[in-house]
Amino acid sequence: MFFLRSATGLQVRTPAKVNLYLELLARRADGFHELETVMAAVDLFDTLHFQTREDSSISVECRWATGQLNQVPASHEIPDVLGDLPPSPQNLVTKALVLLQEATGCKRGAIVRLVKRIPSAAGLGGASSNAAAVLLAANECWKLGLSLTELSALAAQLGSDIPFFLRTGSLGSGLAVCRGRGEIIEPLKTKRPLQIVIVRPYAGLSTAKVFQQCELASQPKQVEPLLAALQSGAINQIGSTLFNRLQQPARQISSTIDQVAKEFEKLDVVAHQMSGSGTSYFGICKNVRHARRVTSQLKSKQIGTVFQTQSVGINTLCN
Ligand code: C5P
Repeated sequence: MFFLRSATGLQVRTPAKVNLYLELLARRADGFHELETVMAAVDLFDTLHFQTREDSSISVECRWATGQLNQVPASHEIPDVLGDLPPSPQNLVTKALVLLQEATGCKRGAIVRLVKRIPSAAGLGGASSNAAAVLLAANECWKLGLSLTELSALAAQLGSDIPFFLRTGSLGSGLAVCRGRGEIIEPLKTKRPLQIVIVRPYAGLSTAKVFQQCELASQPKQVEPLLAALQSGAINQIGSTLFNRLQQPARQISSTIDQVAKEFEKLDVVAHQMSGSGTSYFGICKNVRHARRVTSQLKSKQIGTVFQTQSVGINTLCN
């Protein structure tokens, strides 16, 4: 999360994420899953502009960035390529602000303008990142003085990934292990940013549907080998340590996952897999030059929108 004060309010750059590891440990009584996941914030950003209103009304205006619209092939519809832009009442940004007003009794409102680059229904956490950004912006501009812990408790009511994004500003590496429903965050140290190339296929997936199809393993996959590879900086050892329990159910719902996986298989990336509940798929590259080459190879396949990214925390943002 990166904040800039403007003449009229606050501008926030809100990052996407990928899941390097995701295991389901148990089904919970509330219908959610107890999980363990390693998330990396990446430098694919939406831009959120927050302006306070002195009355309590909230308006959220949302549009795709021109650069993103220009990448939509003539043969495809915008919602297939980028996903849907949720209208104001259903937008997580609106829901987050209403919840914050209710929880604090704040009588102020907001005008929010959101320029989207992170595709939705993609497993990249775009809506959650936007919600985290608006909670932080409103806390600041409405002078509420809530702690990160208090904001996290509110955020967890709206979406499982929001607490991670609330913390991205304080995660030096942009990486963390998240447990519980996703709200228990343990920051990770890494030696250098990861080079990550993402493909968002020309079709999305509903998170809830993918979770409905999933099965728990009797022997959960261990996270430790990935943590050891990340902490040692031995990128080449990441290989078989990536894991995503949701990839199997997502493959059953959408054939695009296997199509994209097959293309990554032909490349010399260090490791590759689906992010979150899909459909986005990513590969880890050896260095920036390698990532540039992989990006152009994947673009030529026309299997989806391709993003060359790197993991990003507050330190890398400040450079
Ligand atoms: O919290 P979020 O909005 O991301 O969750 C979307 C859906 O994903 C939930 O309705 C639930 O079906 C599933 N989910 C889950 N366990 C989690 C997170 C999400 O079952 N820890």
